[in-house]
Amino acid sequence: MISAGCARYGRREGLSAREIFDEALDELFSNCPKLSRADVGALFLGQAFESFEHQANTSAGIANNYGLSGIPTVRLDSVSSSGGSALRAGYLAVVSGEFDVVLCGGVEKMTSFDTPTALEIISMAADRPFEQWNGATLTALNALAASEHMRRFGTTEEQLALVSVKNHENALDNPKAYFRKKVTLEEVLASRKVCTPLKLLDCSPICDGASCIALCRPDLATKYMDTAIDIISSAEASDCDFVFREDLIGFNATRRAAKKALSRAGVEVREVDFAEVHDAFTINEIIAYEDLGLCEQGAGGKLIESGETKIGGSIPVNPSGGLKAKGHPVGSSGIGQAYEVFIQFTGRAAPSRKVKDARLALTHSMGGAGVTAQVHIFKARA
Ligand code: COA
Repeated sequence: MISAGCARYGRREGLSAREIFDEALDELFSNCPKLSRADVGALFLGQAFESFEHQANTSAGIANNYGLSGIPTVRLDSVSSSGGSALRAGYLAVVSGEFDVVLCGGVEKMTSFDTPTALEIISMAADRPFEQWNGATLTALNALAASEHMRRFGTTEEQLALVSVKNHENALDNPKAYFRKKVTLEEVLASRKVCTPLKLLDCSPICDGASCIALCRPDLATKYMDTAIDIISSAEASDCDFVFREDLIGFNATRRAAKKALSRAGVEVREVDFAEVHDAFTINEIIAYEDLGLCEQGAGGKLIESGETKIGGSIPVNPSGGLKAKGHPVGSSGIGQAYEVFIQFTGRAAPSRKVKDARLALTHSMGGAGVTAQVHIFKARA
């Protein structure tokens, strides 16, 4: 990875997905002055939903709009992990030898409609005949996972709330974050119920945003950047829809992708200096701790309580503020995580949220209620 850019997440009124993506590209090219538009061989774009702007086939339009005309482009959709899919597609395209330099991006413009309409669109992430048909939203499915985790392991609403407290604190000094304000445990617990046991402050917001990274052949990296970042492993997995699972307390897609990514990289998860994980709902971060192997199954609640996943702890999780507080413009989130790796590894993070001496990082993106997952492992060269 030789460069990255990210547009501010939030309500970007008056701007289209294409215009928001331009902001991410402007930053990417300014962060790597030696990279020119003519170097770019292809664009892999994560974007989940066509309905927000009534626009399909967006990748070519976005490329043309920015003067990247004529290159191959493709849009990838695995809902909330569309960015993770775009990252993996770009990675494979480079390691295959087909391209020297590619862009992997993600974008979503979600605030064009009111919340009920937006949720109707987001619900397309769930299975139509068995989940949507029964009225399930992503919030409802994750609330079921939370209830089951609480029943089986004694996980508490306070432990869920601590994820929100931590991630809001991390986002405070992140200029790209939607919510740059602290929340207390009491405020999270008192926030309005959305779907029991999940409350407003347990949920990621509906918002707009875009991010983009540039990948190149490892042997060319120093031509563009002194402190290039290696992607030492990439893995992806899937699972059946939530409603068909026997076990609701973890996500097999994450477990499979994590196992493969870690073994390919030849590293133990405990060696990772920080992780950016899918926390669209607070329960997702607790389950991700377990599925990634940061703790035993059922011990995620205790791990957040221990403070070890805060910046300064033994394994900081979501120093960006995560999807919860940085925001979750669905298609962008997986690339936004890689952007955070770039910011941390290149010394660009504000001192208050800098992970000290970070050289090895893991990103975890999840689509739907655990239907798809990608895990990537990054290593700083310098
Ligand atoms: N976290 C913190 N604050 C939030 C928030 C969130 N997730 N969502 C909205 N807010 C804030 C708004 O900024 C606003 O604050 P203000 O009054 O100071 O301006 C206030 O809460 C009301 O916002 P509003 O947009 O009216 O809330 P809403 O009730 O329409 O939507 C949710 C809130 C939680 C229902 C909605 O954000 C949601 O459904 N999120 C999940 C989206 C999702 O499923 N994503 C895909 C997951 S894979």
